[in-house]
Amino acid sequence: MSALYSETEQKTSVTLQTIIEPVKYHLEEFQTYFRNSVRSNVSLLDLIVRYIVRQKGKRVRPALVFLTAELCGGINERSYIGATMVELLHTATLVHDDVVDDANERRGVASINAVWKNKAAVLVGDFFLSRGLLISVENGEYDFLRVTSTAVKRMSEGELLQIQKSRQKNTDEATYFRIIADKTASLLSTCCEVGAMSATHDPVVHEAMKQYGEHCGLAFQIRDDILDYTSRTSILGKPVGNDLREKKVTLPLIHACSVVEQSEAKKIIKLVKSGKMTNEDISYVHDFVKRNGGIEYSIAIAKREVDKAIAQLVHFPESSAKRALEQFALYVIHRKK
Ligand code: IPE
Ligand code: IPE
Ligand code: MG
Ligand code: MG
Repeated sequence: MSALYSETEQKTSVTLQTIIEPVKYHLEEFQTYFRNSVRSNVSLLDLIVRYIVRQKGKRVRPALVFLTAELCGGINERSYIGATMVELLHTATLVHDDVVDDANERRGVASINAVWKNKAAVLVGDFFLSRGLLISVENGEYDFLRVTSTAVKRMSEGELLQIQKSRQKNTDEATYFRIIADKTASLLSTCCEVGAMSATHDPVVHEAMKQYGEHCGLAFQIRDDILDYTSRTSILGKPVGNDLREKKVTLPLIHACSVVEQSEAKKIIKLVKSGKMTNEDISYVHDFVKRNGGIEYSIAIAKREVDKAIAQLVHFPESSAKRALEQFALYVIHRKK
């Protein structure tokens, strides 16, 4: 492990708890909105919904809606609708993603597909997705509907492009960026745009928040892809090493392959694309990536995105929400889970 790598990994000064402090009250109130939005009379669905609601994630997306709303004029009833929408859509994509990735763990417990099988998981994901979109219709928030539907479309495209690429040999950095922008940054960007839209009519502010979220989202996914190499399942609450198992070539590996002899890179990619990796193979590729600077490089690229995100905040006057959003951008690349 190089000095740079360990130094960066140890910086943990910003915690999510501190960041959400300015909107803590609203995040607690949000719980009720979220729970009420997914009630169902079908008992199997209700059982699975309760299982999902019990294991709440980090609530990063509703926190972003509230923080950006606070920054852009103040949290109101519309911010709550936005926060509920984005968390419903996020939950839907996670349930579907675990089917797509054949992942058996999420948020430290068995995934929906692991307990109730793919059939039920696909349908439960659909239920959350439709509830998310319906919330805006029920409240006459058609601008929210337009923005979030675009994110849903981009997320499907990103996931499908990723599947397409996992079946092909070549993965380059440009394609990687296209995938992570669509599958992850689109929703974080939407969170910030919706937060801003709930608080102001100024299109310049909407655009600034949209850009802030997009750059945070790119960094967030790069961090996710780094953690797949450097973390442990017990910390992440989801299976580490699953990207390679699913033939996913992410930034750390793309970079490592670009700095070695072509013949060596070809050998590694062939192994990953064989789809038959043993635990030893996975360790071998992990080692290859670390030895060839894949982690440091990815950290540097993620930092570049964080800087771009923070640059979107400069024109706003100082406030606790602004400070929290600056810290959030940093948290994204230092987070441990
Ligand atoms: C996981 O998102 C999916 C990615 C975009 C990497 P989070 O890490 O925000 O998941 P939860 O909601 O906290 O479980
Ligand atoms: C995250 O995909 C983005 C989604 C659309 C859910 P990943 O497959 O990379 O995320 P994790 O690691 O399972 O959370
Ligand atoms: Mg996935
Ligand atoms: Mg996954």
